[in-house]
Amino acid sequence: MSNNIESILTETRVFEPSDAIKQQAAIKADKLDAMYAKAEQDHVGFWADLAKEKLSWHKPFTKALDDSKAPLYRWFTDGELNVSYNCIDRHLDTKSDKLAIIFEGDKGDVHHYTYQELHDEVCRFANTLKTQGIKQGDRVIIYMPMIPQAVIAMQACARVGAIHSVVFGGFSAEALKDRVENAAAKLIITTDGGLRGGKAIPLKGAVDQALAKGCDSVKKVIVYQRTKQEVVMQDGRDIWWHEAEAGMSNYHDPVMLPADHPLFLLYTSGSTGTPKGVQHGSGGYLLNAMLTNEWMFDLNDKDVFWCTADVGWITGHSYVAYGPLAMGATIVMFEGVPTYPDAGRFWQVCQDHGVTVFYTAPTAIRALMKFGKDIPAQYDLSKLRILGTVGEPINPEAWMWYHEVIGRGECPIIDTWWQTETGAHMIAPFPGVTPLKPGSCTRPLPGIDAIVVDEEGHEIGNNSGGYLVVRKPWPSMLQTVWGDDQRYIDTYFAKFNNQYYVVGDSAHKDADGYIWILGRIDDVLNVSGHRLGTMEIESALVAHPKVAEAAVVGKPHDVKGESVFAFVVLNTDLPAGAERDAMVNELRNWVAQEIGPIAKPDDIRFGTNLPKTRSGKIMRRLLRTIAKGEEITQDTSTLEDPSILKQLQQA
Ligand code: PRX
Repeated sequence: MSNNIESILTETRVFEPSDAIKQQAAIKADKLDAMYAKAEQDHVGFWADLAKEKLSWHKPFTKALDDSKAPLYRWFTDGELNVSYNCIDRHLDTKSDKLAIIFEGDKGDVHHYTYQELHDEVCRFANTLKTQGIKQGDRVIIYMPMIPQAVIAMQACARVGAIHSVVFGGFSAEALKDRVENAAAKLIITTDGGLRGGKAIPLKGAVDQALAKGCDSVKKVIVYQRTKQEVVMQDGRDIWWHEAEAGMSNYHDPVMLPADHPLFLLYTSGSTGTPKGVQHGSGGYLLNAMLTNEWMFDLNDKDVFWCTADVGWITGHSYVAYGPLAMGATIVMFEGVPTYPDAGRFWQVCQDHGVTVFYTAPTAIRALMKFGKDIPAQYDLSKLRILGTVGEPINPEAWMWYHEVIGRGECPIIDTWWQTETGAHMIAPFPGVTPLKPGSCTRPLPGIDAIVVDEEGHEIGNNSGGYLVVRKPWPSMLQTVWGDDQRYIDTYFAKFNNQYYVVGDSAHKDADGYIWILGRIDDVLNVSGHRLGTMEIESALVAHPKVAEAAVVGKPHDVKGESVFAFVVLNTDLPAGAERDAMVNELRNWVAQEIGPIAKPDDIRFGTNLPKTRSGKIMRRLLRTIAKGEEITQDTSTLEDPSILKQLQQA
């Protein structure tokens, strides 16, 4: 982290928007100024006007914000709408033949869906859900690879008023089971498997394992056939997608729902306990998901937008499954990985489908940067006009490479700061207006009252750092933690007496008021742009029969941003040589099985104890220093047993 902070603070380059993008972009400086002024003057009215203008309402709302139970805010509550109607049906009059989804599979297979075709698919599947007994408010787990059927399943849930929870296909059976049980889901939608980098990854098998261990709420499993690998179908419970869908009508009347009806849950890691089900509503969520596609990506009718995120993450919700479709845009969905069959794959997809706006994560840029600029030079990337990034602070070197090598020095880099909880972008530049500084996500959007405060909660001036917080509610903010309002309040509001939504990141504000995100203030790691709680990984490790204690910290990593570094105390003798290597392997695989391969520790060190204070608190800052391989210069006088440090350093 310290490297990151230094490189951020010494960055002085400023990039003005090019004349081309200034002319092209729908939002120009005067319009943006007017938006800021309006939002400043009448925060709730600003959002209410946009909600009326941008969304199609079945029944208009009369009250924009219900803050009677603050901080449990609800938006547009007496209005009624359907999210899927807003993403699909309302475009059919003018855009039925326009492409909604361009899909490229891992092996290069391509499939197109027009808005009409997407409508028909979603309707058939909505009718299928109804036939399988799914009703408004039921929870449905979607555990699928990055294929159009995942979006079709999400949209179909939205159409019938079922609350979906997409579980990333890379999560293990154990992680899936926890989420199914927390949501008390009635149905799981999955595939036989998914294709990634030329390999078939089983998914139905993991569902079977999860269901064998509990998940009593699950009545049905719908299985889409993707890989044709062998699966076991359980009579009465499991049904093939194509069989369930046979004979279903292409028409389905969307259920009109109150605007604050939950649309989805998405589980994310925090500093304590098990992952929490972040609950998002319908109208407010969709408004910001849609608007930020317009504001940050300037999507117009000619654009082809590719967001590389998996639908298992919030980015895949707001910038694949919902936001761009609400705009009536054409999106690209890609099943594979950036390096298969070679490191030119992303650029080949951009070229072949004429991608104009591309959105990915710094970890992907850093990984591809390593292969040099000759690879992207082999592809025609001339249609690209806007490049976006999300998930972690982008280091200026990666920013410059993205801008120059991929963006020909012309495409603005839209660094978007936001979170699962915020639903949509919060701090980001407008492509046609905002001067850019590599590594800064620039300024809060109009209507987003994000500020930086000190330990006492007072707003700080420029040229200083502190806690990033949001003062006023905004439409796409999480509604609560599923089934646990108290945890919502404790996690996000308690620190400053319910005054602010507390983001969990620290930030620096520079002389121009630009925000530079420094990283998490809690025990959350950011590995390749994915949030992992150190607690979760520690709990997984201690669940192993041979592990007595474990502490996990992040270690700076030049591609992943951070990697997982675990310190482990076994309840056997300290292992050495081949025995130690075997134990390391065993524990890495164990974590992959308990949580998923993304949580696998890169390093594991064994000791006879962990460095603790006399009161028993693990001194994580010392562990971070050891993980980095640096000399310990901190005060160690409060340690119970200082000799443990030598042992962990040498191990
Ligand atoms: O620490 C911030 C980092 O990712 C966290 C949110 O993670 P998650 O909920 O998984 O959502 C990721 C995709 C929105 C934030 O608290 N983060 C996200 N975007 C940025 C970022 N850090 C710096 N710059 C960003 N652009």
